[in-house]
Amino acid sequence: MKFFIDTANLDQIREAQELGVLDGVTTNPSLMAKEGITGTANILNHYKKICEIVTGDVSAEVIATDYKGIIDEGERLADLHPQIVVKVPMIRDGVKALNYFADKGIKTNCTLVFSAGQALLAAKAGATYVSPFIGRLDDVSTDGMALIKQIVTIYANYLFETQILAASVRHPMHIIQCAESGADVVTCPLSAITALLNHPLTDIGLEKFLADYRKGNS
Ligand code: G3P
Repeated sequence: MKFFIDTANLDQIREAQELGVLDGVTTNPSLMAKEGITGTANILNHYKKICEIVTGDVSAEVIATDYKGIIDEGERLADLHPQIVVKVPMIRDGVKALNYFADKGIKTNCTLVFSAGQALLAAKAGATYVSPFIGRLDDVSTDGMALIKQIVTIYANYLFETQILAASVRHPMHIIQCAESGADVVTCPLSAITALLNHPLTDIGLEKFLADYRKGNS
């Protein structure tokens, strides 16, 4: 399972990259705004900076919601850097655009997916990645992980090549459950990735090993 970091924060992207487990980055307009990145030129430049830090795919989301606008913006984003994946919302014109980008060999990430039907459409349209938002489903008392399992089954039934990118992943248990369910990718905050490191028995065990070493070597 690939690990993507879901942020536009360059320090956090660097930290995850240095950990050696990072496969890519996802961003969205809210995450860019959170970092104070505004204005087209600054936003495009920020995507280039992210691509220089990581070696994997970097999702850059279009703002346009009409077919022509999505195509124009998506092509501009894809021209920025070979690692850019054009992130397209799950709307009617978005599905049409996914098809267009697939024909052009431009990688896409279909975002704001909340149902199996939407995931099926994204795969039919040739999306490279589909992003079901599991945390936001959990937020409205719906089982986000059940959707991941449903999409895994549907894609396996028909050998769709679209990769399931579990998004809106909020905590380490989401990551574990995604791995159990067969998601291809998880995208999450740095805190969820580093939380996987922690176990009190590791800390206690290491403390004891070092204490015993010091007893015999002082
Ligand atoms: O990038 C989309 C998604 O991961 C957003 O997550 O936590 O805002 O629901 P969240």
